[in-house]
Amino acid sequence: MRQAGRYLPEYREIRRKTDSFLGLCFNPDLAAEVTLQPIRRFGFDAAILFSDILVVPHALGQHVSFEEGGGPKLDALNDPSAFQRLRKNIDHVALAPVYETIVRVKQKLPADIALLGFCGAPWTVATYMIAGCGTVDQAPARQFAYRHPEAFAELIDLLVEASASYLIRQFQAGVDAVQIFDTWAGILPDSEFQKWCIEPCSRIVSAIRKHVAHAKIVGFPRGAGTKLTQFVSTVLVDAVGLDWMVDLTFAREEIQTRRPVQGNLDPLVLLTGGEPLDRAIDAILEALAQRPFIFNLGHGVLPETPIAHVERLIARVRGFKAKY
Ligand code: CP3
Repeated sequence: MRQAGRYLPEYREIRRKTDSFLGLCFNPDLAAEVTLQPIRRFGFDAAILFSDILVVPHALGQHVSFEEGGGPKLDALNDPSAFQRLRKNIDHVALAPVYETIVRVKQKLPADIALLGFCGAPWTVATYMIAGCGTVDQAPARQFAYRHPEAFAELIDLLVEASASYLIRQFQAGVDAVQIFDTWAGILPDSEFQKWCIEPCSRIVSAIRKHVAHAKIVGFPRGAGTKLTQFVSTVLVDAVGLDWMVDLTFAREEIQTRRPVQGNLDPLVLLTGGEPLDRAIDAILEALAQRPFIFNLGHGVLPETPIAHVERLIARVRGFKAKY
């Protein structure tokens, strides 16, 4: 999950020096520095590449920008004819600074700390490409997929190819594992989940494994709920990220029996701190720590999160680990 960002003063300082968020993503020196900041401060076991899922639409020729505090803005693909504005293949030259960031982070990262690369899943990336921004329920993409199923399938195909090729390059540059973020998986009705979440993610995983035999891949279908069982039986990921809404008994009995899991502290309870935080951490550890498990949040760190709460979390999780 996102662990760099605005809750860290050292991030805000670097961000002030850059003219835009994408400018930071495409500056290997600064992006490497921002990737390493949470590791230096907190001593986490893994670093996550500093970039964004929307560099893929950018590398497909769509205009992408991030407005201060307002989230991403893209020139919306309102109807199938707008797809002509996109490239047929991902532009790896545009993404070269991301690969360079990976090389630099690996040079500086201690050997026992893993570096995670990532991309957005095709469905999630398509929701932003079509709406041109984030919306509460990504209705524009859902409606587009009903109205123009063939054109939408073409966009998903393009994103499957682009994302697989992007992640293969990330492995070649040095990442130890990758995560596929399907942040908007949970708004798909049952009938569409297989088509737009499971199949595209599955195709990306197979394509990566053809080139990088031992690739470690984590899936994160946020909001999938009980459909997580369907996800792990079809998508051959090595581990699955659980969002904060997933029931812990269900996770232990239905998911962890099939795959290692990662998760799933509510970012809001981390922001709250105190007793509620301690109780939530303990509940997760008691439910999941007996089988292969990565303690993590159920989504990224919120900008208002006090640093002291993150420190408290780490001390508690490490203290629990010491008991075993
Ligand atoms: O720790 C890290 O280095 C994380 C790197 C990372 C970012 N985005 C940086 C970022 C990762 C893994 C992402 C993924 C991402 N980006 C997702 C999937 C995961 C998720 O969080 O759901 C999505 C949906 C996006 C798209 C995106 N990027 C949105 C909707 C926003 C605006 C919301 C916000 O928090 O401001 C972003 C901006 C963004 N991406 C920030 C960061 C640190 C905040 C930008 C800033 O204020 O400087």
